[in-house]
Amino acid sequence: MLVLGIETSCDETAVGIVEDRLTLRANVIASQVERHAPYGGVVPEVAARAHLELLQPTLDRALADAGCTLDDLDAIAVTHGPGLVGALLVGVAGAKGLALATGLPLVGVNHLRAHVEVAQLEFGQLEPPLVALVVSGGHTSLVRMDADGSFRQLGATIDDAAGEAFDKIARFLGLPFPGGPEIDRIARRGDPRAFDFPRAMSNDGTHDFSLSGLKTAVIRQLRRMEDAGEDVDVADVAASFQEAIVDVQLEKTLAAAAGEGVGTVTLAGGVAANSRLRGRMQEACDAQGLRLLVPSPGLCTDNGAMVAASGANLLAAGAVAPLGLEVDPNLPLAGAGSPG
Ligand code: KG4
Ligand code: ZN
Repeated sequence: MLVLGIETSCDETAVGIVEDRLTLRANVIASQVERHAPYGGVVPEVAARAHLELLQPTLDRALADAGCTLDDLDAIAVTHGPGLVGALLVGVAGAKGLALATGLPLVGVNHLRAHVEVAQLEFGQLEPPLVALVVSGGHTSLVRMDADGSFRQLGATIDDAAGEAFDKIARFLGLPFPGGPEIDRIARRGDPRAFDFPRAMSNDGTHDFSLSGLKTAVIRQLRRMEDAGEDVDVADVAASFQEAIVDVQLEKTLAAAAGEGVGTVTLAGGVAANSRLRGRMQEACDAQGLRLLVPSPGLCTDNGAMVAASGANLLAAGAVAPLGLEVDPNLPLAGAGSPG
């Protein structure tokens, strides 16, 4: 069974192809980073326009990489939310066109679930119940996945998403967009204990996060040092900021796993590519006897393979979408078109 997955919810135009739910056949990503970099963030209109231009060539390359044609496919899966409305519309319109032209079933995929389910391409069939930390540019949440494929949100950020915080602080440190990978790289040379930044909502008994106070504290610290004429050690600030984020994510994820009584934890979303988070989460899970599944960095950031994998699961469960499938920029985790 070959499922094609189209992802256009934010600033990556991506097409992936997955065979029999677990085998990656193609994963092509046309990044728009250079188009958004001059603005220091993703510009929705620029993203939608770029998706229009890049979708067809990305699709062609994915089919070529997988060595197949549209005739060989069994379904067309597409992210229909959450995400930027204009960006989502391009992918969904493209998927509908393909489904109509080929007569193949259309499957509507939830972007957040896809971030979690992509792990099956590297670790084989997932064995829920599990707790997933979904950390990306737009989301920071802890979710529970159950054996029937259903998802439930345990908690989420009450303000900024982790990736958003990484990108904003990077901008203040004069680092290029997107800032997450830059902070990750520079922090390796810095002292994570150089500054004691706040760990909001740590050990408060909830599964929620708050990151805006941390962001403000880092910006204040930078201004204070500049006003005092002190040299800013960018590596120390980056390392201390990153450590504060990682500390809270670690503590909250382990508390959720314990509270839910699960033996498996997964990391998902762009920020799961962060080397410090991956390393420390591995140590912590080893110490607690938890199994940790962390996809390769290229499968953590937005990609089409995750949509194809999630779409293949839905197809197997009989969840085919109508050709009238709509985009939903705020699609909840237990959204339409999906079991659970
Ligand atoms: O999942 P994703 O590709 O797109 C969304 O759905 O938002 O996540 C993108 C976010 C960006 O904020 C980016 O800076 C962050 O993930 N990111 C990282 C790293 N790689 C990407 N943050 C920290 N460390 C990284 N290595
Ligand atoms: Zn994402």
